[in-house]
Amino acid sequence: MPRKGLRDLEPSELEGRRVLIRVDYNVPLNEDGSVGDVTRVEATIPTLRYVMDHGGRPVLLSHLGRPKSQVVPSLSLAPVALVLAELLGAPARFVTSTDSSEALDAIENLPRGEVLLLENTRFLPGETNNDLDLAARFARLGDLFVNDAFGSTHRAHASVVGVTEFLRPAVAGFLVQKELEALNTLRGAGRRPFVVILGGAKIGDKIGLLETFLESADVVLIGGAMANTFLAASGASTGLSLVEEDAVPTARRFLDTGADKLRLPSDLIVALPDAADATAADVVAASSVPADLAALDIGPDTRTAFGAIVRDAATVFWNGPMGVFERHGFDAGTVEVARAVADCTAGGGFTVIGGGDSASAIRQAGLSDAVSHVSTGGGASLEYLAKGTLPGIEALDSA
Ligand code: 3PG
Repeated sequence: MPRKGLRDLEPSELEGRRVLIRVDYNVPLNEDGSVGDVTRVEATIPTLRYVMDHGGRPVLLSHLGRPKSQVVPSLSLAPVALVLAELLGAPARFVTSTDSSEALDAIENLPRGEVLLLENTRFLPGETNNDLDLAARFARLGDLFVNDAFGSTHRAHASVVGVTEFLRPAVAGFLVQKELEALNTLRGAGRRPFVVILGGAKIGDKIGLLETFLESADVVLIGGAMANTFLAASGASTGLSLVEEDAVPTARRFLDTGADKLRLPSDLIVALPDAADATAADVVAASSVPADLAALDIGPDTRTAFGAIVRDAATVFWNGPMGVFERHGFDAGTVEVARAVADCTAGGGFTVIGGGDSASAIRQAGLSDAVSHVSTGGGASLEYLAKGTLPGIEALDSA
């Protein structure tokens, strides 16, 4: 069912009102604590500008990392406020708490033309289990609610879902609308072949969704750490490669039921697990990773095979890198997939990249503009494609 968006609000619903906006500023941080990638912050600017241009006072909630209901100073959102001010070209105040009287005072005194970012929602007990007391406290921070946190919209958390029990209107921001539009195009495209590429490490989150992709896609390419779990399930020697043991039985089931669509690497680049670069790397058959080495990228034959499949596709969804692409010399598989996705797009294909790592990889390859859509949400885009909705979308007002 379509949901209300920002533009569906009357001007009087924004003018002078406290607009509580859930954003996803779960950004990578550099060792010195500064923000490593501003994409997710940049992506919310149109929503913030619109609210401010219509006289609204934006109050922002976000999580950062997984602090498990504890205050973890290294996961403070303070550095994000600096980036936000720069990108917005307006002052961004920051309050070191989220639901206190200090926060309420800061909101009360927030001048027009400024935004307020509150501290990490996951410092508070109750956020990740959608505690309704906490949700009610969040709701007191605004007069209406906007969800522009696409990357968190698959999480039924207090600041995403629970808050809407107490605060209406509750509408979608521009980023959420743009993401859903692109994913709906992909879901509805029906242009074949439809190729899904899955890699990366959050295997537990992804493997359960594979069933749907084995139904909807023509081919599912598996690379990165995800491939190790499948290779282990197929009886291969995986050496010191990252394998998610809990997911092995599920992987085995998919190998049995989806063998005609699943493609695993045939060769791998292996090295010592902590190798800083590929100097001491070798190419081995995917079935036999030496006991003292780990797979850190897909091998050259796999690169060629995966690249050809992607270039021939009409519709592509890619989530997760093919190896530890951030380490020098282990990026060839990921870069080749990025190039193939760009070539597919240039040939008229519709292509969507979901997830922080794949998005950084395509940016690193200088190809972000050469694909149809780069999503800011990895888990969220996967789940939306698989299920056709998300908890944070269901919670919003119907259009
Ligand atoms: C993400 O980075 O995928 C989102 O911000 C959600 O984070 P989470 O996986 O820690 O819930």
